Amino acid sequence: MKVTVRGVRSVEIEMSQPERAAEFYGTVWNLTEVERENGSIWFRGTGPYHHILAIHPARNGAAVRRLTFDAADRDVVQALHKAVATSGCPCEAPHDIDAPGGGYGFGFVDGEGRNLAIVCDVRDHAGHADAPDRPRKIAHVNLNAAQLEKTNDFLVDVLGFRRVDHSGPLHFFHCDNPDHSSIVTCTATTPTLNHVSFEMPDLESVMRGGGRMRDNGYPIEWGPGRHGSGNNVFCYFAGPEEFPIEYTAEVLQIDDTYEFHGPDYWKWPPGRLDRWGITPPHTARWKRIQDMVRFTPGQHRL
Ligand SMILES: [Fe+2]
Repeated sequence: MKVTVRGVRSVEIEMSQPERAAEFYGTVWNLTEVERENGSIWFRGTGPYHHILAIHPARNGAAVRRLTFDAADRDVVQALHKAVATSGCPCEAPHDIDAPGGGYGFGFVDGEGRNLAIVCDVRDHAGHADAPDRPRKIAHVNLNAAQLEKTNDFLVDVLGFRRVDHSGPLHFFHCDNPDHSSIVTCTATTPTLNHVSFEMPDLESVMRGGGRMRDNGYPIEWGPGRHGSGNNVFCYFAGPEEFPIEYTAEVLQIDDTYEFHGPDYWKWPPGRLDRWGITPPHTARWKRIQDMVRFTPGQHRL
């Protein structure tokens, strides 16, 4: 069994107006605030993870400060630390983490300057259960890569992901959980964020979430629809400060027997953009914001 992570545990973002963003993620996006400290606010989903989103005050507009991967235990953390250090990335030694949720792990910078971290032993919530209309967890993060091959190779050779599909410009990466993919990459001119996807408990919650977003002044930028690769349903939105976010559900569950398919397989008839054939094309705004949010440089130490 290859050593890898168990998925994206949390995303830390920077906002110019963190309080306004926190109001949105707590009352419209339907996460639950768990901690606040020095102007930063942490939110959980309905799953066990201590938090899945952290909002920090921005120094320079909306940005992603860090993606944190979950690891099964300290042996996995140590093994992945060895792999990351050997790859030559700037990297700190694993240590006990003095931040909300605690845990044990390390931060590092990948080859395109993204701050990443791998942690285990976090103080997760004993009480967790699906709730209608409330996100469980981060389903996946879609990254724009200026050096796509380098980023893809790092995910596979160093972090132990398996590339399970290639559809159009998108490459899908599976790790140690049944979800079809936890990281998606695509080509861009700069290494920006494409979007962060939050998993809802069911299709109904994605649809009702779309309505709730519209009611609050956040129209659907793409969707609703059902993707080909991954088979998940989707609705995409521009959150506060035009941060690109997705509600998804019904993500295909796979195991080692899943067969890779390339772009020739994942093709729609002309004019069709999803399995159902109902979604209109994405908006010009979505096109703009899915290659807009940069990663904060030099913040890899936990
Ligand atoms: Fe997505």
